[in-house]
Parts: sequence; structure tokens; C-alpha cells
Amino acid sequence: MKKSLIVANWKMNPQELKEAKNIALASDFKNVVICSPFVFLREIKKTIKNAKIGGQNCFYEKLVGPFTGEVSAKMLKDVGCDYVILGHSERREIFKENHEEIKKKIKAALAAKITPIVCIGEDEGTKNGGETIKKQIFGSIDKSFLSKIIIAYEPVFAIGTGKPCLPDLAEKRRVFIKSTLSKIGKKGESLPILYGGSVNSKNAIKYTQEAGFDGILVGGASLKKEEFKKILSKA
Ligand code: 13P
Repeated sequence: MKKSLIVANWKMNPQELKEAKNIALASDFKNVVICSPFVFLREIKKTIKNAKIGGQNCFYEKLVGPFTGEVSAKMLKDVGCDYVILGHSERREIFKENHEEIKKKIKAALAAKITPIVCIGEDEGTKNGGETIKKQIFGSIDKSFLSKIIIAYEPVFAIGTGKPCLPDLAEKRRVFIKSTLSKIGKKGESLPILYGGSVNSKNAIKYTQEAGFDGILVGGASLKKEEFKKILSKA
């Protein structure tokens, strides 16, 4: 059985450092990455020796400079991040990030030797989800990124709703994503693809073992220590 990559996206949680450290202890970090808010990253890395950590965003400018509120990929690297989530639907929606910006962020992360986990996924309202996915892929993935990034398929309707995408549909999307990526370049076919959206301890295995995903990106359930431990034992 192949080992799945399990990425926890804590989003803007939890409130306190003490709690953050406590939740992080649910992971063995063999195949787990915790993407916490920026403010907790250094401390998690310091207290848990083998912790693998990631950011939830970074800015595309590589050097330090007058960019109020932003954090560079190099800064993430310096606190010990090996990964960064980019293009999450919450960033596309709330912060109006566009394909071009996401592309620049991927470039900056790669330059800092951080693996970008690039989120793509259609909205329930988008009748032709495939078109949305194609636009996201062609708009933000450059041929030079292939083999260096991880894709996370996160259908917007499944995020934080408790209504996960049915594994059958998720699998179809996974295959579609692979074939779309392969149009950019041959290496696109072998990019790892994670599933995200209302993953819990009961359904995690469906995505990793049945629908063929290389791992999962877990939001809400990654903040509940016991539930997350169960996910890790199953997926
Ligand atoms: P939930 O697992 O809470 O649905 O969130 C998914 C997500 O957005 C992970 O990036």
C-alpha cells in the first residue's frame, strides 16, 4: 500500500500557541505536513523536532521590501517550511487572487526551494467544472513547474460543508486533472494529486485507496486531535 501524503490546513486556527502545539502533537510527521498560521510555524518547528511544516500562502516578490502584510517564500523557508499551500479557493474568493498571481507565487516558492501545494477546484455553481479546472491549470501552471509541485483538488462545494465530493466524481476529476496537466508537458502526468474537502476519519480512505489520490488536504478535521489521529491511522 502506498504511503499517502496528509496535509493539515489549519486556516486561521487555533487562537492560542498552546493549543497549536497540542494539536500538532497528534502527528508523527512521517508523511504529515502541518500548515499552520505564520505565527505558530517557528514554535511548532522548535518544539517538535521532526515536524514538517508549511505556510498557507506567500508573496511572489522574492526579496525583502515594502510589501505591508506579506511574507516571502524565503522567510517561510527560514523558519523551516518545506511546503506552502497556494491558490486555495478561500484566497481566490476572499482575496481575489488570480491565476497570474498564483503562477508568480509558485515561481517564488520554487525559487526558495519550497514545494507548492497548488489548489484547484470548481464551484458547485459552475456547471462545467472541467472548464474551470482547465482555466486554473493553464492559467497558473507553467511547464517548468511540472515534477516540482503537488496539486490539491478541492471542489469548492465540499470545503467546510460536511458534504464531501463523492469519491467517483473525485476520481473522474483526478483523471481529468492528470490529462489536462499532461497537455502542458509529459511530466504533468505524474504529479501527485491530493483530495481536499470535508475529509474525515470515515471517508479519508475512500480518496487515498479507492479514488487513487496520492494524499489528502484536511481542513476542519485536522484541528481535532483525536479525529486527526484516526485519519492518520487509516489514510
Ligand atoms: P475542510 O476539510 O474543512 O472541508 O477544508 C478543506 C480545505 O479547505 C483544506 O484546504
